[in-house]
This record gives sequence, structure tokens and C-alpha cells, in this order.
Amino acid sequence: MIRINENYTKLKASYLFSDIAKRVNAYVAANPDKPIIKLGIGDVTEPLPQVCVEALHAATDEMADRATFKGYGPEQGYAFLREAIAKHDYAARGCAIEADEIFVSDGSKCDCGNIQEIFGTDIRLAIPDPVYPVYVDTNVMAGRTGANVDGRYAGVTYLESTPDNGYVPSIPATGADLIYLCFPNNPTGAVATKAQLEAWVAYAKANQAIILFDSAYEAFIRDPEIPHSIYEIEGAREVAIEFRSFSKIAGFTGTRCAYTVVPKALQAFDSAGKAHSVHALWNRRHTTKFNGVAYPIQKAAAAIYTDAGQAQTKALCDFYLGNAKLIRDAMTSLGYSCIGGDNAPYIWINTGKDSWAFFDDLLNKAQVVCTPGAGFGKCGEGHVRISAFNSRANVETALARIAQALK
Ligand code: MLT
Repeated sequence: MIRINENYTKLKASYLFSDIAKRVNAYVAANPDKPIIKLGIGDVTEPLPQVCVEALHAATDEMADRATFKGYGPEQGYAFLREAIAKHDYAARGCAIEADEIFVSDGSKCDCGNIQEIFGTDIRLAIPDPVYPVYVDTNVMAGRTGANVDGRYAGVTYLESTPDNGYVPSIPATGADLIYLCFPNNPTGAVATKAQLEAWVAYAKANQAIILFDSAYEAFIRDPEIPHSIYEIEGAREVAIEFRSFSKIAGFTGTRCAYTVVPKALQAFDSAGKAHSVHALWNRRHTTKFNGVAYPIQKAAAAIYTDAGQAQTKALCDFYLGNAKLIRDAMTSLGYSCIGGDNAPYIWINTGKDSWAFFDDLLNKAQVVCTPGAGFGKCGEGHVRISAFNSRANVETALARIAQALK
């Protein structure tokens, strides 16, 4: 008899954003005359930068011509894109990352979710709370956790982000082998200082651990003191993998392109204590299960690294940060304490109320969709996340409605 992977039965019935979509769709069906404004899932609304559109058109023309047509590309990505990433995102910041340490992919969600499969199933996990649900759920699926009891999976060290620690988790007292970090943070919008990241790198070294550093939102950092990459920290090449995405910086949520950096210095061990190259393992996995991102999409991504591309993507991120400031100011003036929104496109609001009840209130009274903090973990209770990804007009209308509903 065919049997299921029973680890899936430990998961909540559906993925957070599917849950929210169901509630919103039900509301829309029951209230067709009440237009909804979505500030929930972090999905971009503004069109692709002009440089990307032009590159897509040009690459499509190449695909239409026998002389320039391309079939399978390198699984790891075309050299033109990997070299541009290495030069602009790393060398320019003093980080020693080579082009062949970069793996181009169709999204950071997939990469963050898939990376765990190259590590043992009996390793110790340290995962933030609140957290992007993909990190936890993929480890549950792989059997690295016990059952979920009272909102916590057995076998996971939760790195709590609370008002008391400014939403930046402290180094745990216990050991961990695989550590997930995300800065600027999803969902809280908090950022980590250089000193805080140095402490994590030192901890990873001391524990022969690996940090999975999700920096999908680095393009929103405006404070010059805040690191954009874990590799700005000395020694991180030996202990960290970094995930980056074009989704938010260039509006690629529907276009799909991202990359993961796996330095060649990174090692993990087998049960006999023998060291193995993590780069080689990921390359093996990537070439077996992935056939590369479409050529026109990689050309569009590479266009971001031209002078015009840099100016256009900065303007796009500045635009969303303008929304973020409006949201944070409005929620603060309503009496809520907030973080995020200054170096991140998310504003994390301490409502002091049940987060799903607050979500329902905003939906029913203001027709605005946010994300309930409890969906990101136990420490998210009492909070909601509002996303800055929408048009200026929609953000302004949403804030006026929220002010009216909550006054
Ligand atoms: C979010 O809303 O947290 C993001 O859209 C997640 C993602 O990028 O997959």
C-alpha cells in the first residue's frame, strides 16, 4: 500500500498565505461591493524596471533567431549574470565571492526550502520566531522535528524576537548545527548590526555550524552602518550560505529569479567526522533537480547591474520605502508601537491584541488585508505585519480607512 510521508501530518493544514487568501476570498465573495486593499503578502505591484523590459524583449528576439537561439543553459546560471552579481553585490562591498560560488535559481523561497536536504536529518536547528514559515515547514517535512505542541515543534531551538530584545534574537545558550537568520527581517523589518552578525559568525565557528542567511530584502537598507551581506563579516565564508532575490528589488515576484551563494570554503561533516564541500553537495543537488532559469529572465536580471538598472531599482525600492514610512507614521500616530519600514518594506506592529482578531477587524472594518503575526510563530502573537508593496494611492486609502476603523 502506498504510504505518505507522515512528517506532513505534523504541519498546519495549509500554508500561511493560502490561509489568508481563503479568508480574503470568502470576504470578497460575501461583500462584492467592498473593494479590498492587500497589504498582506509581500507581493510587488509596480511594473518591471524599463531596463529589464528592454532586456527581456531583446533576449526574446534572440530566442526567435536560429543563430542566437538557446536551449538548456548552465544549471548554475549564465556567466554574464553570475559575474555581474559577484562584481556588484560582493566585490563592490569588499566581499570575496567568486562568480562560480553563485547559483542562479527561480526563487529564494525554493532555495531556502531546498537547501536543508543536503544536511543530516538528525542535526540541531535554530530558527527565529517569528519567522518566514518556509524555514520551519521544510524541516518539518524532512523529519527534523517532533510534533507541534502549543505552537512549537519539538527539537527546534527557537530564537525569540520580542519587544524586549528589539526583535533581534540573542545567541542561544544551547548548541545548534544549522541556524536560519534573515536580515532585514521578514516579518519584523528589524535589521542586525555588524557586531550582532559578528557574534553569530563566531557562534557558528565555535559550533562547527552553518548559518543560512536570507538577505532577500537587503536592497531596502538605507542605514550605511548596516551590513547588506553576511560576507561583510570576517570569517563568514567558512560558515555561511546567503540567499538573495530579484523579487523585491526589481519586481520579479512573477518573473522569478534569485541566487544562492555557497562559498567553496564551506564544509560539513559525515558521521565519521570527514569533511565535505558544501558547494560540491549543493552543485550536485542543483544539477540533478534544476535545469536553470530561462535565458530572457537571466538577461533581464543582468540588466539590473547596468548604471540605468541600478538607478531604476533604487528608485523602485525608494518608492516602496516611501509607502513604508507612511504606514509606520500612521500606525504610530494611532498609538501602536512599530518597528521596520525604515530599512525594510515591512512594518511590524505591536497591537497588544489577538493577531487573527486584529486581522479580521482590519478586513471587516477597513477592507485592508494585513498578515497576522501568529502566522509567523508564537512570538508573533499580539502583532501584525503590514507590507509596503502597493501603489501610493492604495496605501493612502488603506491608511485613511484604518484610521477611521480603529479610532
Ligand atoms: C512574504 O509575504 O512574506 C513574502 O512574499 C514571502 C516570499 O517572498 O515568498
